[in-house]
Amino acid sequence: MKKTIVKSKPDLNQASKRTAGIIETIRFDINAVDSLIGQGKLANVQTYGCQGNVADGDAIIGLLEKLGYKITDDENQADLILLNTCAVREGAENKIWGIVGRLKRVKKARNGVLIGLCGCMAQEETTITTIQEKYPQIDLVFGTHNIHELPHMLKQAMSGQKLIQVYSDSSTIVEELPRVREYKHKAFVNIMYGCDEFCSYCIVPYTRGKKRSRAKADIFKEIDDLILSGYSEITLLGQNVNAYGTDFEDSSYSFGDLLDDLAKTNLKRLRFTTNHPHYLDEKTIKAMANHSMIMPHLHLPVQAGSNRVLELMNRKYTKEEYLEKINLLKVLVPGISITTDIIVGFSGESQKDFEETLDLVKEAAFEGAFTFIYSKREGTPAALFKDDTSIEEKKLRLKTLNTVVNEGYLKGHKRFVGEIVEVLVDGVSKNNELILSGYSQHNKLVNFPGDKSLIGKLVSVKITKANTWFMSGELI
Ligand code: 5AD
Ligand code: SF4
Repeated sequence: MKKTIVKSKPDLNQASKRTAGIIETIRFDINAVDSLIGQGKLANVQTYGCQGNVADGDAIIGLLEKLGYKITDDENQADLILLNTCAVREGAENKIWGIVGRLKRVKKARNGVLIGLCGCMAQEETTITTIQEKYPQIDLVFGTHNIHELPHMLKQAMSGQKLIQVYSDSSTIVEELPRVREYKHKAFVNIMYGCDEFCSYCIVPYTRGKKRSRAKADIFKEIDDLILSGYSEITLLGQNVNAYGTDFEDSSYSFGDLLDDLAKTNLKRLRFTTNHPHYLDEKTIKAMANHSMIMPHLHLPVQAGSNRVLELMNRKYTKEEYLEKINLLKVLVPGISITTDIIVGFSGESQKDFEETLDLVKEAAFEGAFTFIYSKREGTPAALFKDDTSIEEKKLRLKTLNTVVNEGYLKGHKRFVGEIVEVLVDGVSKNNELILSGYSQHNKLVNFPGDKSLIGKLVSVKITKANTWFMSGELI
């Protein structure tokens, strides 16, 4: 068996002890990349999880193409398979282990296939131990902080060495990585990396490291280039975009200022995700009210509706404070659509606490929500909390919650029947080539008959029918 070189292993405990310190920006030198190592080879990149992972996947694909690889969707044809993983819930991890098992056969079937694992799971010690004990088919493991080292790491893996190279924390931001994006009309742009919130249930502050905001000039350079290339919609990305700039030495420039400045560009549509209720400020809400290029939709994860549970979760706001912000949003941005994330069955959540979540969902009138059963993450504070609710009870709570949430989706669609909405066309519908689909300003999925030539364009659609998951309409 090949020898494994363990250059550095992750350490969740060490990751939690990081200090503020100076953030250094590295400028990636694309000319230093050996563009021959992937020549004539195929690479398959499988990305799971959040938009942050998708953005990393875009950079990984950008790098692989620079190395000479061609990208394929077919893992059975690929010379290199990379699993870009998510660690936010146990289910996401189990799925990856299933795929790793399947890849053993792929590797046996063809000589010289390399398999790599990266992303948030790579940042956990338990993942490294499991790979070393059970999955010799994995040749390369790297983390969320060293994607830019991929060219070097691949070279080493190709020379027959197994390599594990994961850093627990990072004080760097890497600029100028090449990126291959899925769409030509809408793009995600990171404005910050990492998270310093340490919500008690969440693994992200450990796997993605400390909060690091990108310099305004670097964000603008990327966005200006995208606008010049014809992009209509940009979504600003970060684990807590509302805390943008709070890590700068001079923290007087805030997220609201960034929005005001971006509103001066020619960009047609601006969105941002994800938001933290404690940090969402009036300046941001006013920017949404003042600039029509900022879309009237906000994803504002509430997580729970009981103040006791919110405190256990370390969320830094009460139900009342959350509702106050929602009310201000609704007053200043009339017609705004608000969506959220909710966790049920958190350790110690009682039936009464859960009912408070249901009440809040009704009061906030969410028009959509991602709902989850709490999943214990080793290394987080909540993993030590006593949990005496059965899984059957938790599943029942999720089902009850989803019924209310789905009513919100439908209501949110019904209010547009008979109205004309602007849609940015993403592509053809999965089930029917003659149906186009895209998102309205309020972030509602719209399906309508139309020609493929409209893909990437902004069109007007009259809404004729509201369904739970989408609205139907006709082009006008
Ligand atoms: N269990 C269940 N859901 C979680 N989330 C984050 N951590 C956990 C966990 N341990 C959810 C939160 C967050 C979303 C991205 O994932 O609702 O907003
Ligand atoms: Fe996780 Fe909380 Fe940070 Fe969101 S804000 S990534 S839930 S720790």
